[in-house]
Amino acid sequence: MKVFLNPDREIGRRSPMLYGQFIEHFHRQIYGGVYDPQSPFADEDGFRTDVLEAMRRIKMPILRWPGGCFVSSYHWKNAVGKERQPFFDKAWRVEDPNSFGTDEYIKLCRKTGCEPYICTNAGTGTAEEMSDWVEYCNLENEGKYAKWRIENGYEQPHKVKYWSIGNENYGFWEIGAKTASEWGRLVKEAAKMIKHVDPTTELTAAALTDIHWNIELLENCGEFLDWISIHEYWDGIHQTNDYANYEQVMAYTDRLGHSIDEVRGLLTAMKLDKKIKIAFDEWNLRGWYHPNVHTIKQGVTREEYLYPRDKNDDNTKYTMADAVFTACFLNELNRNCDIVGMANFAPVVNTRGCIYTCPEGIVLRSTYHVFDLYVNYLGDIVLDTWSKETPSMKVKAKDGRELSVDALDIVATKWSDRPGLAIAAVNKEPEESLTLFLNFHSAKGNVKLFTISGNSTESYNDMGHEEVRIEESEAGAFRMGMEIALKAHSVNVIWIEE
Ligand code: AHR
Repeated sequence: MKVFLNPDREIGRRSPMLYGQFIEHFHRQIYGGVYDPQSPFADEDGFRTDVLEAMRRIKMPILRWPGGCFVSSYHWKNAVGKERQPFFDKAWRVEDPNSFGTDEYIKLCRKTGCEPYICTNAGTGTAEEMSDWVEYCNLENEGKYAKWRIENGYEQPHKVKYWSIGNENYGFWEIGAKTASEWGRLVKEAAKMIKHVDPTTELTAAALTDIHWNIELLENCGEFLDWISIHEYWDGIHQTNDYANYEQVMAYTDRLGHSIDEVRGLLTAMKLDKKIKIAFDEWNLRGWYHPNVHTIKQGVTREEYLYPRDKNDDNTKYTMADAVFTACFLNELNRNCDIVGMANFAPVVNTRGCIYTCPEGIVLRSTYHVFDLYVNYLGDIVLDTWSKETPSMKVKAKDGRELSVDALDIVATKWSDRPGLAIAAVNKEPEESLTLFLNFHSAKGNVKLFTISGNSTESYNDMGHEEVRIEESEAGAFRMGMEIALKAHSVNVIWIEE
């Protein structure tokens, strides 16, 4: 495939928040994940130092918390201050000790240098409860909630800029689900109250690629909103845990940006595309496995609905399929960086996350290395590229459809603060190496290749078993039309240094 680009044809500067993360009070993401005071790796505040270090290495820019479905019956006031009472989390049907609350979350954000982003309870919660939370976090000392924060030992405001009103309140599975008209009304009242507390907050609200839901939301609240939130999981195995295989995952890469295209079209039609950005604030190739709990008929025994959640943490299942898919989606986010301002991988720790914890240490799954590659090796200015002779591959989707997808996925970038080019190149072919021809003049200098590939499409990482990592190689001096061989099932960044 021939790649052409002009370094002066810029799509835009991507926000670092495209590489954001999400963490929920679900299974071992918080308790026994990042927060584990009994762990030998725990610091003075109970956070796993090995996890914090891994989060810092991928420069986690923003962390959405506390849910997810969890938040839709969560009351934040029960999880601050000295008197913490355990509560029964009706979303996931477990007891939450409430020992990890807003102040612990802010500490986590400070330790990792990331922006906090709080999702509020628009299920059983009220506009007042949401805005009280903003008072607690952002007012200096006015009113009872800021004074309560000070009494809890936090003199300075937490300065939480990003707030979401609700989570998936459109879905029957969500506690406190709403109709589109109910949603528009509630979001408007909540947004009004939050902005009255702190006009500098940036607000988003739960949305989806449904035109009626979004028209109702945007007609009611477009003036208050800075973002619109959408979620997507492609391999929907919440109830079955039957992983799509490599070929089936490549089929999911067909039209990967459809949700972005649909929401962009609506924002444009409503003349809001210059005011409101997309927050893709939950995404992952695979849905989380939690059978018999988001269904009408709930599981009765813990064997039916609780213990199966451990199966999310089978490290052998996070292979090059996940890495290749993740890179293709990050490419899609970069290509749409003019309207997508944030995205949050769901989640960051355990479950389907890129970091896995166990008593002996952590495992950096295949997807972690993709974030490492994109955050630390790819530029922040996305360039317009075009190509000729793009190879395609025939794949069979999980639902049996036969389709053809591009075998190569390319995004070219440069840096705003240094010379050179960095090109992300994904070869989706399971067995075949593919050749890239760099058909552009302006670049010069030495060429380096940073590759994630593993030994096979089934390569994975686990404790004492590392197959997937970033490998560096030299490709010599750049020349027009230079050929770069890309390994089968590989994620690459090509550096052209000046
Ligand atoms: O499977 C986990 C859930 O996925 C999150 O809690 C929710 O936001 C999404 O439906």
